[in-house]
Amino acid sequence: MASELTRRNQSHQPHPSPPPLATSPPTSSRSRVVAAALHRLFFVFVGIGIATLFFHAVLPKGFQTVPPQQPSLHHHHPDVAAAVSSELSHRRVLYEAAGGGGRMNAGGKVPLGLKRKGLRIVVTGGAGFVGSHLVDRLIARGDSVIVVDNFFTGRKDNVAHHFGNPRFELIRHDVVEPILLEVDQIYHLACPASPVHYKFNPVKTIKTNVVGTLNMLGLAKRVGARFLLTSTSEVYGDPLQHPQVETYWGNVNPIGVRSCYDEGKRTAETLTMDYHRGLGIEVRIARIFNTYGPRMCLDDGRVVSNFVAQALRKEPLTVYGDGKQTRSFQYVSDLVEGLMRLMEGEHVGPFNLGNPGEFTMLELAKVVQETIDPNARIEFRPNTADDPHKRKPDISKAKQLLGWEPTVSLHQGLPLMVSDFRQRIFSDQKSTMSSYGGTTSA
Ligand SMILES: NC(=O)c1ccc[n+]([C@@H]2O[C@H](COP(=O)([O-])OP(=O)(O)OC[C@H]3O[C@@H](n4cnc5c(N)ncnc54)[C@H](O)[C@@H]3O)[C@@H](O)[C@H]2O)c1
Repeated sequence: MASELTRRNQSHQPHPSPPPLATSPPTSSRSRVVAAALHRLFFVFVGIGIATLFFHAVLPKGFQTVPPQQPSLHHHHPDVAAAVSSELSHRRVLYEAAGGGGRMNAGGKVPLGLKRKGLRIVVTGGAGFVGSHLVDRLIARGDSVIVVDNFFTGRKDNVAHHFGNPRFELIRHDVVEPILLEVDQIYHLACPASPVHYKFNPVKTIKTNVVGTLNMLGLAKRVGARFLLTSTSEVYGDPLQHPQVETYWGNVNPIGVRSCYDEGKRTAETLTMDYHRGLGIEVRIARIFNTYGPRMCLDDGRVVSNFVAQALRKEPLTVYGDGKQTRSFQYVSDLVEGLMRLMEGEHVGPFNLGNPGEFTMLELAKVVQETIDPNARIEFRPNTADDPHKRKPDISKAKQLLGWEPTVSLHQGLPLMVSDFRQRIFSDQKSTMSSYGGTTSA
């Protein structure tokens, strides 16, 4: 090193005045300069050689430059979309085979700090009834979950038991506004589901379904995540076909009071399929039928929660119309199992997820009487507009392709919901009384 520096210094010194011809011929000085230049060139080439060797042999493959594999935004041909989709699925399989942490570095050691076991999953509407049960299952499976919720109908209480878990995050955010998150999967549930709530601000409901779904599909496109839409049996409207098969296109009123929800979900399905076909995004669509269970909103106008809350409060059970309209009721754990199978499977859907066991409103009222209070009275009221007469899923497709079917009967599931409602209704009453100085001694 010292000699190199010395040489460099020498080469930067001003040239000495030419010595007398007799003692130092000019040819020998020129050859020294040429030799020094060749020497320097040699070191430059050795340096380049070492660097090339290092990048090609020492660094793991994941760090080397690879041609970009993201689908072009201009792929519109179905074959191209299918090819892109299968490429994405292939990458996902590789990702999962690598334990979810080796996407960029399948061959080498995972650098410290980048290693993680589960998937990163966002659940929009995760503080709501269905969403919070889904979050429980995903956290139990070992995934990291980000809940995005504006708390319109959801409650922090539904997910409070995960506070402090480093694999859980809760973000107060309205899906009508864009959000950027690095995730592998998106379960998109954000939307009020009960008529009382979705009719409260119908324009906001349709905005949530259209703009909210667009934002989440945009996120899926941007980060290469798989996207699952929770659609609804309401897309069948007041069905003329019974039971409803996924190929049935429905009988929906586009200008009715429920249209903000029905048509909103239909548009959300359309957007989901267009992102899939046009942009190669991996999507899944679930059409959910009436679901019940713990953590449902009290007094949300849905028939099961209405009956249970009324029976517990010793109020009459309100039956709309003649009570002969039918519904099928699925327990929430069955639905969550179906949603997860759909997300993990290879089929886009749509899939009906519901319990095909059919009950009239009067039969349901009887089960509630048996479970809570045999003396509960039934009160008839005029029916609401656009209330479908019959609703029962055909779940053959989910049985065949997802290997899924409900396992919890109404007689098994209802008591679980009743104990949750009992605890919430009576602890609410206690806290109301104590805030008026009724029961506490303090
Ligand atoms: N429960 C059912 O019987 C049923 C039936 C069919 C479809 N679904 C669908 O399943 C999903 C979940 O339903 P649920 O029963 O849990 O309803 P829910 O009302 O309990 O949950 C919806 C959640 O979304 C949140 N939310 C609403 N608008 C939002 C917005 N703009 N931005 C962010 N968060 C928002 C709410 O605060 C709530 O936490 C919904 O998409 C619903 O349409 C449910």
